[in-house]
Amino acid sequence: MGRIPASTGTWIGIILLLIMGMDMARTSAELENKSSSAGLFWSTAKEEGDLVHKAGPADDSTAASEDLDGGFSSLDGMLQWAIGHSDTAKLKETAQDVQRLSPSELKQRQLELKELVEKLKMPSDAQLMQIALDDLNNSSLSLEDRHRALQELLILVEPIDNANDLCKLGGLVVIIRELNHPDTDVRKISAWILGKASQNNPFVQKQVLELGALAKLMKMVKSSSADEAIKAFYAVSALIRGNAAGQELFYTEAGDKMLQGILSSPGVDIRLHRKAVFLVADLAECQLENIDHTEMPFFSNHFFLKSVVDLTASTDLDLQEKALVAIKNLLQLRTTEAVVFKDFCGLGDALEKMKQQLEDLMLEEYHRDYAMDVEGLRKEVELIFQAKLGKGVRVPT
Ligand SMILES: *[C@@H]1O[C@H](CO)[C@@H](O)[C@H](O)[C@H]1NC(C)=O
Ligand SMILES: *[C@@H]1O[C@H](CO)[C@@H](O)[C@H](O)[C@H]1NC(C)=O
Ligand SMILES: *[C@@H]1O[C@H](CO)[C@@H](O)[C@H](O)[C@H]1NC(C)=O
Repeated sequence: MGRIPASTGTWIGIILLLIMGMDMARTSAELENKSSSAGLFWSTAKEEGDLVHKAGPADDSTAASEDLDGGFSSLDGMLQWAIGHSDTAKLKETAQDVQRLSPSELKQRQLELKELVEKLKMPSDAQLMQIALDDLNNSSLSLEDRHRALQELLILVEPIDNANDLCKLGGLVVIIRELNHPDTDVRKISAWILGKASQNNPFVQKQVLELGALAKLMKMVKSSSADEAIKAFYAVSALIRGNAAGQELFYTEAGDKMLQGILSSPGVDIRLHRKAVFLVADLAECQLENIDHTEMPFFSNHFFLKSVVDLTASTDLDLQEKALVAIKNLLQLRTTEAVVFKDFCGLGDALEKMKQQLEDLMLEEYHRDYAMDVEGLRKEVELIFQAKLGKGVRVPT
């Protein structure tokens, strides 16, 4: 692992001098300003304290603790770190020293510098994940460090290969265990990581499902913390989207009741409403694509359908749009009845009201384009609804 050796201060001086030598016009003040744009650095709990000590007199105006680290993504990153942690007066002294060096001495220093840079090579993403997991696996880790390790994993699991590596490193077990942590943020970020890693990734979906995390995440959806509930819901959706086994488990765990509960509670956070209705649309679409599968009974439940239709009355255009997509898919299921949509859910009136509202929005410059898109969708739903109603009517011959 890349660790800054004890003589960091000297090396920083030399590195800086090399830069200045290349471009004398750059003053150290300019370079110092550059350091404020330092990017994200990886760090581990173990190395941080160590490093502050070794780096010597650190300039605390720029020494944001997250930036202290043993690994750098690039030479540039290392330089920015170095600049932020150097003593300018000392640097000037070293500058004078270096100017006195003979060409061969300078060459020697450059070689040593090159070696140092090699040593500081950025660890691989898998190594970084292992460090974060080792930290999480340590029960005496401080809460702050735990949050940071989780935040790092949240970023690291984004590429699909990394998500797969996380599985192979045994990381899923560690993160799923964090779902039981007493701290809300730890639980929230852990759910978020699981969701991100599972998104469109059947391999990870399968592992997480087999480790039994779905039921736990579904319980978390009921959390009194809206943020925790939303991230848990995100993870649940990511686990079952496009995954037959996941959906089966979801229904076994009364996922239909969970959805109905969210959709029919007006007090629920709007972000959760959006996610829930989006999942309904998705599950119904999945059903439409697998016509040989028996349709889930809850899809034709009158109260369930009404709670979806009622969401079209929201003043949130995004939620309206998602509700329309869900209605569009639900209307096309074999087991739903047009007359239920019409009489029990009041879909005809709801669509009419939406039309008025969208026409008003189209008069506003700022909303026009989006309102037109949603109106296009609304018309489509209306046509499907009329066609379904027409089919239901027996025309005497
Ligand atoms: C560095 O930034 C400060 C304030 O942001 C500015 O006043 C100063 O001129 C900058 N120095 C250089 C050399 O760019
Ligand atoms: C666990 O964390 C504590 C506190 O950060 C640290 O002192 C200890 O060395 C860690 N243990 C291991 C095995 O890394
Ligand atoms: C976590 O620690 C346990 C032993 O306490 C070990 O078996 C497991 O492999 C560790 N997990 C990771 C991902 O390092």
